[in-house]
Amino acid sequence: MSIQKPKGTQDLLPGEIEKWQYVENKARELCRRFNYKEIRTPVFESTELFQRGVGETTDIVEKEMYTFVDKGDRSMSLRPEGTAGVVRSYVENKLYGEPDVTKLYYIGPMFRYEQPQAGRYRQFHQFGIEAFGAVDPGIDAEVIALGYTFYKELGLKDVVVEINSVGTPSVRASYREHIQRFFAPVKDQLCKDCQSRYDRNPMRILDCKIDQKFCEGAPTITEHLDEECTVHFQAVQDYLTAMEIPYRLNPRLVRGLDYYTHTAFEYKAGGIGAIDTIGGGGRYNGLVGQIAGGNNDKPGVGLGLGMERILLVLAAQGVEIPAAKPLDVYLIGLGEAADKECVRLLQQVRLAGLSGEKDYLSRKMKAQMKSADRQAAAFVAILGDDELARGEISVKSMLTGEQETLPLSGFVQTLADRIRNV
Ligand code: HAM
Repeated sequence: MSIQKPKGTQDLLPGEIEKWQYVENKARELCRRFNYKEIRTPVFESTELFQRGVGETTDIVEKEMYTFVDKGDRSMSLRPEGTAGVVRSYVENKLYGEPDVTKLYYIGPMFRYEQPQAGRYRQFHQFGIEAFGAVDPGIDAEVIALGYTFYKELGLKDVVVEINSVGTPSVRASYREHIQRFFAPVKDQLCKDCQSRYDRNPMRILDCKIDQKFCEGAPTITEHLDEECTVHFQAVQDYLTAMEIPYRLNPRLVRGLDYYTHTAFEYKAGGIGAIDTIGGGGRYNGLVGQIAGGNNDKPGVGLGLGMERILLVLAAQGVEIPAAKPLDVYLIGLGEAADKECVRLLQQVRLAGLSGEKDYLSRKMKAQMKSADRQAAAFVAILGDDELARGEISVKSMLTGEQETLPLSGFVQTLADRIRNV
């Protein structure tokens, strides 16, 4: 039997990959406008980074990591998300950028051992940004705005921004007691996961699909925020309003990662079956200190947007993605000498910045014309041995059907001028 791709992964093939490139180009272009610089970190890191960063009691770390022991007996994990690695690199390379804010972005594969379904994969891709060094709620709003603008400029419709404040660790400690008290009477009826969450991470019960029926009337964290959290949260909302970013408050929003403080948010959109979250993020004051292992904390805020989910929503909503540029010219050489000359010409075409192709299968002219057609060539240039002797080449525009004979000497330049004017 032939070998197949691992479950929950995808081959991104020509025809589809152009859409990815379009979305990635938009991400890069937007980061330029918002002044975020690219960072690339390893796809595997020491397992401890994610235990410390993402949190020991999260589903991601408990159940979903691809963890292995390398030949040097070190426990390594494929990154399940981007933030922990970027924070590690920020600390390790002292990217403090002071007195400025350090603003970074990344696009790349992440790995989670989850049950695959529409929009959920074991290898997926995130576009993420992280901003370090500012407690100003203006930057929380900037991060939310970047994600919203990204979706909007790609043409996604009806994207909803949901925001919440998940408070600080001390706020959460007291909220935890309220939530445990609330769920105590039904503790035995909760699903197995939530029974263990009850002691270890009770806020996550609110996020459980199975136990939603028990969450009705549960105390919300928003009711238990302290003054500092309330002021911060209100300021984020005021900035979003000023930037004309529509948002919805969701006091039940708890994220699947432990590092969030203050602002937490998600983007929702319809079109991918049971899944409606297409991106999310939040503030994570304390995470840098936790990963640095000292008291050298720096505040941070960021987001991660799933690329597969964007493409699925774009397809479901019928949003047209601009087609990739077709081939500029297909060269056909009839006869041995002409075919050889085409090899030389093709290199000239490519050096002139045009895209070109020729036949390498000794096919007849008709088959070569068909091949040019399949590759959507804008022009076909035909060179016979006679024409070669006369120093001419005949060029056909596949768009208009017009045919003309050009001097071979200036052919590449003339073609380049034509294509620029198409
Ligand atoms: P997250 O909510 O775990 O956050 O993931 C962000 C996005 O990645 C999701 O909204 C979804 O679009 C996509 N995603 C997650 N898991 C899968 C999967 N199995 N298959 C396909 N897509 C998936 C984070 O990862 C945080 N690091 C975001 C962040 C950055 N917070 C602050 N900075």
